[in-house]
Amino acid sequence: MRLLVTGRDGQVAASLLEAGQGRDGAEVVAVGRPALDLARPDTVFDALAAVQPDIVVSAAAYTAVDQAEDEPDLAFAVNAVGAGKVAEAAARLGVPVIHLSTDYVFDGTGEGAYVETDATAPLGVYGASKLAGELAVAAANPRHLILRTAWVYSPFGRNFVKTMLRLAGDRDEINVVADQWGNPTSALDIADAILHAAAMLRDDFDGYGIYHLAGSGETNWSGFARHILETSARYGGPAARVRDIATADYPTKARRPSNSRLSTAKFAAVFEWLVPEWQVSAQIVIPRLAEGNLGLRLRDGTTDLFPEPTSSDLTPVKDSLKQ
Ligand SMILES: NC(=O)c1ccc[n+]([C@@H]2O[C@H](COP(=O)([O-])OP(=O)(O)OC[C@H]3O[C@@H](n4cnc5c(N)ncnc54)[C@H](OP(=O)(O)O)[C@@H]3O)[C@@H](O)[C@H]2O)c1
Repeated sequence: MRLLVTGRDGQVAASLLEAGQGRDGAEVVAVGRPALDLARPDTVFDALAAVQPDIVVSAAAYTAVDQAEDEPDLAFAVNAVGAGKVAEAAARLGVPVIHLSTDYVFDGTGEGAYVETDATAPLGVYGASKLAGELAVAAANPRHLILRTAWVYSPFGRNFVKTMLRLAGDRDEINVVADQWGNPTSALDIADAILHAAAMLRDDFDGYGIYHLAGSGETNWSGFARHILETSARYGGPAARVRDIATADYPTKARRPSNSRLSTAKFAAVFEWLVPEWQVSAQIVIPRLAEGNLGLRLRDGTTDLFPEPTSSDLTPVKDSLKQ
């Protein structure tokens, strides 16, 4: 089974590449820019056809939630039109598409964890563009799994865990919002679940549609931050105190749902696969970052490998809200 994943360096793509290594029967090929540019629909079919995949995993996306408010055309071009083109190209090649979507299709006013049939009502451009992408994917390829996930972190790319560890290298106390609830989800778990589900997409599979796929259990950003920093401290990495703040204390350009919790009962029932408790998965990723110095600036200042540009007043709230 050859899986083509879009977006070479993204968290999910990198995790799939890693998961595919040494896994019998699964070959993962990642294709990204410039060969495949979702903002240039003319590149999509040729980039996919060159790989001759058995399944396409559509993971690449415009994920800058706040920036999307200023770049709605680009966000929709990539997340809606581009995603639709990927699904259409997969259909032309006669293969299913597994498309990643988001909890931000919901407005967060619902009680409890969202199920797949709950009404969508995105609060911002990013969520709206991803919702348009879901519709485009479903229209272009009947053999689709749309996997809505949330609060993704991993050893790769930019994410909340790395941000917390980096800030803890600079500060004794970090302010983190405590009134947005959700399911931290390791991209390593997403990759495992995708490989598992992909193997079930045989000709007689009749479960195509939308699924929620996220870490089990729930917390808020502040609780997640505390867990990250306590774990880091145990592994000799950076540590800091976490102070609860309200979303209202830190207004961002894009509004976020206060309730992002996703029920994964449907995915568990159809694919007989349960994502681990978020704390269990975090215990795998955090030590990899804390011990491996993967881009961390350690408290003693001796290691400064963080590869991304940082602004001095970067806040965890802002950084965490990339999707
Ligand atoms: N991260 C989250 O918390 C989160 C939460 C819910 C849902 N999701 C969804 O899950 C999926 C995977 O997320 P992720 O965290 O792995 O994303 P990510 O780490 O932000 O990576 C996004 C990838 O998309 C690529 N990309 C952006 N614009 C592109 C374009 N025009 N053409 C081709 N590739 C392009 C990027 O390429 P470059 O490296 O070249 O920039 C990057 O490799 C996305 O669909 C996202 O919407 C993410």
